[in-house]
Amino acid sequence: MLKIGIIGVGTVGTSVCQILEDNKDIITARAGVELVPVAGVVNNLSKKRDVSIKITDNPDDILNDDSIDIVVELMGGVEGAYNVVKKALQKGKAVVTANKALLAYHRYELQDIAGDTPFEFEAAVAGGIPIISALREGLGANHIESIKGIINGTCNYMLDKMINEGVDYDTILKEAQDLGYAEADPSFDVGGFDAAHKLLIMASIAYGIDAKPEDILIEGIENVSPEDISFAKEFGYALKLLGIAKTRGDKVELRVHAVLIPTSEMLAKVDGVMNAVSVVGDKVGETLYYGPGAGGDATASAVIANIIDIARKGKGKGSPMLGFKTSLESGLHLADKGDIETKYYLRLHVEDKPGVLSKVTTILGNRNISIKNMVQNSVDETSANLLLSTHTCSEKDIKEALEIFETENLVLSKPAMIRIEE
Ligand code: HSE
Repeated sequence: MLKIGIIGVGTVGTSVCQILEDNKDIITARAGVELVPVAGVVNNLSKKRDVSIKITDNPDDILNDDSIDIVVELMGGVEGAYNVVKKALQKGKAVVTANKALLAYHRYELQDIAGDTPFEFEAAVAGGIPIISALREGLGANHIESIKGIINGTCNYMLDKMINEGVDYDTILKEAQDLGYAEADPSFDVGGFDAAHKLLIMASIAYGIDAKPEDILIEGIENVSPEDISFAKEFGYALKLLGIAKTRGDKVELRVHAVLIPTSEMLAKVDGVMNAVSVVGDKVGETLYYGPGAGGDATASAVIANIIDIARKGKGKGSPMLGFKTSLESGLHLADKGDIETKYYLRLHVEDKPGVLSKVTTILGNRNISIKNMVQNSVDETSANLLLSTHTCSEKDIKEALEIFETENLVLSKPAMIRIEE
């Protein structure tokens, strides 16, 4: 028998207990040993929990209990969780976490502390989708060329409803919160940070990159406008918040932002709260993983998969947490934010008079930005919106051009820009 202590008995912790009971037969057969949750830690002892384990409000009751083999960390947050996980590992307990924010900041330190002690985190990225084991084990033979993921269900749900049902931003955010998809602080979702945490974890496994959220480009969906949505529809694009990692030479671009993708792509068809991750390996080609990225049972399914794996391998037989036994000799480096290269869609509100278009194209041309498509829509008697898409160019150049449009008073309002991935 292996005994499990759960730190944070909320929706996911309760599901872990229930699934271990409901599916005991198959889980025991797969693990080779019975997996028994024995204790849980909560903040508020007076709140009623639907579990039959011993409940306490002191993590030390689990961390100092030598009979507990596996600690499941579901408390969330960064520093408190770091201290709990560190102590558990130092005591030789295997750890399973669903905490993406903890790993976005402390994954390399925790990997060092863990050593051969198992430390697993499948549930931290894309909930029930086994993307960590796909990247770390299933695709281990490949150089990973790109990862593109819909890895925040809240944003995908919101964009879907805004685009397909015309629901306004505030109404749909409230709905996502009521349905329990959003983080406790929903700015982590709509600001792109939750997706960035997950992207950084995947990038460590794919590329051995040790980056923090501050090091990468993170934009959310707060500034997506109804006009951007109608542009996407008119020109045959879907609008998604993607986490993107891709290699160019010895550089790896890591970025999270709203992006236009052709509706023919499989990711474009992923609607509602679902998650999906496309991974391209140099030998396998494109692989796609789809499923629920949040929710008690889906997340608990990934937590228990890790517990089964730990039970099968036995004490002190953890794989390297982030998948590398030695460091990568080819040495990939994180690309600077300004060196990111992609295609862009621009919306410029300009005066409708001779010479304006030529000034716009000169500013773009001087920065080696080539226009792919252009449409002009009248706004009123004297002004128009120029809707442009570009060929591939650098983030630095496009940002500079946008700044010049404003400083030279070529635009009547702040220009809008969305990146295009195709
Ligand atoms: N808030 C997250 C989401 C939950 O919306 O995807 C899962 O990490």
